[in-house]
Amino acid sequence: MAPHLTGRSVQHLVELEHGRISREIFVNEAIYQQEQEQIFARTWLLVGHESQIPQPGDYFVSCMGEESVILTRDRRDHIHVFLNTCRHRGMKVCRYDEGNTTVFTCPYHGWGYATDGQLVGVPYYKEAYHEALDRLQWGLIEVAQLANYKGTIWATWDAAAPPFLDYLGEMKLYLDTLLDCRDGREGGSEVIGGVQKWCMPCNWKFAAENFAGDAYHNISHRSVDLVGIGPSGRGRRDTDERSSARRLATSFPALGHGAVSFLQIEDVPYSPSYRDTPEVEAYFKHCYEERQRCLGAGARLLGLVGTVFPSMSYLARQPRSIAVWHPRGALQTEAWRWFLVDRDAPQEVKDVLRHYAMRYSGPGGLTEQDDMENWNYASAASKGVIARRYAYNYEMGLGLPYPDYGLPGVTTERIAEQNQRGFYQRWAELMEAPSWEALASKM
Ligand code: FES
Ligand code: FE
Repeated sequence: MAPHLTGRSVQHLVELEHGRISREIFVNEAIYQQEQEQIFARTWLLVGHESQIPQPGDYFVSCMGEESVILTRDRRDHIHVFLNTCRHRGMKVCRYDEGNTTVFTCPYHGWGYATDGQLVGVPYYKEAYHEALDRLQWGLIEVAQLANYKGTIWATWDAAAPPFLDYLGEMKLYLDTLLDCRDGREGGSEVIGGVQKWCMPCNWKFAAENFAGDAYHNISHRSVDLVGIGPSGRGRRDTDERSSARRLATSFPALGHGAVSFLQIEDVPYSPSYRDTPEVEAYFKHCYEERQRCLGAGARLLGLVGTVFPSMSYLARQPRSIAVWHPRGALQTEAWRWFLVDRDAPQEVKDVLRHYAMRYSGPGGLTEQDDMENWNYASAASKGVIARRYAYNYEMGLGLPYPDYGLPGVTTERIAEQNQRGFYQRWAELMEAPSWEALASKM
């Protein structure tokens, strides 16, 4: 399955042993189309969060790759993800972003679907169809598998894909640093506010590989630290727990995931970050103490960023958030960002975090603006016929040994690009593998 513009297989475009990756994979439309089949139609993708649909009949319209999907909770409290297209002539059955309904009624000819996907309404069923249409056969198309992991809803179109927890593998440890309560209890997060959505003129992989562990680009954010958008509205952009910790980058090349975290060498006292908002400070100090008590030495691992292959990225520190990089063409990405808080946190804490999140991330967030500017201009400067002849460099740390930190995955304290190499190793395998069965030996 070689992309026609290059005449070479994808494996030849991703030369990891030399730390080189062709620009074609970021700009070539044929490769982009191949990704839709080989990656987005088969892998587990994040669709939303259960706190967005708390009541029966609630729905949230999301995307899986280029496909519009409806995340909904039916009358019996079961969560579903359906393709947002009418079975009659394909009209989008739900054109709102979110809401509550008993029936999704197609605007074109009026077919109606219940929240469990069943076709329950067909205008002129007697007169036009003579009651011969088998409504059981024409319900909404549902994903092949769905998983609710600590409130996050994931789905895949491929019945042969491994179960979600196998797909996630030991990346679970790092994803949990995002999803668990700040006081160490499992799960317990909720989405705060709406979902921020915006478009960027770059390939989706720019964002995914950056969050998988680009520890090298800190120079991009220098201006943000000068402006001072920190937790209390001033000072450095982030919280202060990093000062006594090792910064570790971890790759799972057989799965494609990557994470960056902090590992404290020993127990350290709480480091105040919210000095201007005493109630928020008290909340996080309490969380810190509870977390130490619950997790013991496990509390020394603090999440920073990561990417669950292919397109879900997260920020596990405050402001805590999930991003999904929806592909919209080789040179276009639609970014969505959800902000998470502890469900039972006091309202003042949620309010302060909401403002912090808006300063930091999303289209108006100063840190995210820095990143987007790089991805946008790199894309524009990579698409010309001359530029495309020259590979990108992914050599950093190539061939160096990996110490054992007692953590799962290929981990290093060095600034290196093994997380990006791991991401593209899996990308290249998936781009050519005919099935999950063929890939199984590599997991
Ligand atoms: Fe939906 Fe015809 S397209 S009822
Ligand atoms: Fe950044």
